[in-house]
Amino acid sequence: MNFNSKNMPRNKMRLQTACLTLLLIAASLTTIAQQMGDDEKKSMLKGNIYGGLKNAVDGVKGPGSNLPPEKMQWWEDQKFGMFIHWGLYAIPATGEWTMFNQKIPASEYAKLADRFNPQHFNADAWAKVAKDAGMKYMVLTARHHEGFALWNSPASYKHFNSWEMAAHRDFVKEYVVACRKAGLHVGLYYSPLDWRFPGYFDPKGQPENAALLKKQTYGQVEELMKNYGKIEILWYDGGWLAHKGTDADAAWFWEPLKLNAMVRSYNPDIVINPRSGMAGDFQTNEGDEPVKGPILPIPWEKCLNLNRTSWGYNKAQNLMPLKLIVEYLVNTVDRGGNMLLNVGPDADGVIPQTHIERLKEVGQWLIKNGEGIYGTRPGPFEPVDNYYGSTHKGKNIYIHLLKMPAGTTDIRLPVIDIKVASCKILGGSKVKVLQDQNGIIIHLDGAQLDPLVTTLELKTKSGHF
Ligand code: GLC
Repeated sequence: MNFNSKNMPRNKMRLQTACLTLLLIAASLTTIAQQMGDDEKKSMLKGNIYGGLKNAVDGVKGPGSNLPPEKMQWWEDQKFGMFIHWGLYAIPATGEWTMFNQKIPASEYAKLADRFNPQHFNADAWAKVAKDAGMKYMVLTARHHEGFALWNSPASYKHFNSWEMAAHRDFVKEYVVACRKAGLHVGLYYSPLDWRFPGYFDPKGQPENAALLKKQTYGQVEELMKNYGKIEILWYDGGWLAHKGTDADAAWFWEPLKLNAMVRSYNPDIVINPRSGMAGDFQTNEGDEPVKGPILPIPWEKCLNLNRTSWGYNKAQNLMPLKLIVEYLVNTVDRGGNMLLNVGPDADGVIPQTHIERLKEVGQWLIKNGEGIYGTRPGPFEPVDNYYGSTHKGKNIYIHLLKMPAGTTDIRLPVIDIKVASCKILGGSKVKVLQDQNGIIIHLDGAQLDPLVTTLELKTKSGHF
C-alpha cells in the first residue's frame, strides 16, 4: 500500500478507505491464522529464502545430491508451473492439515477413503487448465501427510490408496499420461511424513513403528519412480521428524542420500527439491511473503496458493487477485526463480470454476508478455522493489514495469556496456529510448501501459549480458 503521509490527515476519505482495507486484510489473515495450527505455520516457514539466501536449506551432500548446472537449465527455462494439492482432505474441505489440526484419530480419518470416489476427475481437464494459464509443468501431491496414496501402491501401509479403496483408480497414472499428452513436464510431490505412524512423532521411543514408516517411504518412492515412465521433478515435503527441527536434522533417520540414489537409478536427471534432508537441486520460497531484493544466483522456486486459505480444497475461498499473481510471477522471474502456483481440486476432482477463470486471465497476460518470461535469465539490471525488474534472452532485454514513479513519464535505468538499439512495449508500440553515460531513459509519455505489468523490450546490438 502506498499513501502519501503528508496529505493523509487532510484527506479523510482516503484515510477511511485505507483503514477499511487494513481491517479487511487483518480480518482475512486472522481467519487463515485461526484455521492453521501452529505446526502447520511452522511447516510453511521452513527453509524459506525470504530476504535472500541466509535461510537457504543446507541439506546433506554426497554423490548425486545435486545435478550439475547444465542439467538444471531446462527447469530454469520453464518459469511457471501448477501445484495440485488433492487428497482425502478435499472431503471435509478445511485444508490438507485437517487430520492433524483437528486431532482426528487415524482409524476415524481412514473412513474418508470409503467416500473418496470422484466421478468428475479428468486429468486432461487439469492439464488444459494449466496450459491455458501458460504453465509449463505440474506437481501433484501423490501423497500428502494424511498418508492416502493416489495410485496403485502395494507399499502403502494398510492398503491406504485409491486403487484398493472406493475409487479403484490410479490417479497418478492418469495424471502423468495427461501431462505428457499436453506437453507439460511431469512432477510429483511426496511426503515422507505420514501422521498415521506414532513412530513418526517418536522415532527413538517407537523404532519399530518408525521403521514401518521408513519402509513405506522407500517402497512408495520406488513405485513412483519405477512404474510411471520418466518423472522430471520430485517434490518432497515433510522430511522433518515430529514436526521439529529441519529436514536435514532428520537425515539420520531417512538416509536421503540412499533414498535419492534409488530415485536417480530410475530417473537420473530428475530435479529434486531440498525437503528430503538432502541438498537437492533448488531452494524454495513458500507462501504469500512478497518477493523482494536482489537476483538470487541459484535455482529457486516460489510456491504459493491461488486460494490463500489453504493448499487443499477449502470451503473458505480467498482467491488471489489477478494483478498480485502477475506481480509475484515477474518479481520471481526477475530474481531468477520459477513460480509454482497451487490449486486445490474439490472432492470430485474438479478445480473450482473461479480458479479456472483467474488462471485463464494469467494466461492472457502471458500470451502477450510470455516472451519476456519463458527461457529468460534475470538481469542485467538488478530489480528495484515495487518499480521494475529485468530479464534477458538473446539480444533482448525485457523490463517489467510494476509501477511508474510518481510525477514522471520516464523510466531511468543504470549504465550498461551494451548499446541499446530500440525499445517497444511488448504487444504494443515503439517508445523513445535514449542512452548516454548516465544510463538509459525510456520515455513513456502517452504510451499505453498494461494495467497489470508492462513489459518493455529493449533490442541491443550485442546481447552479451
Ligand atoms: C506447507 C504446508 C503443506 C503444503 C506445503 C506446500 O508446508 O504445511 O501442507 O503441502 O506447504 O509447499
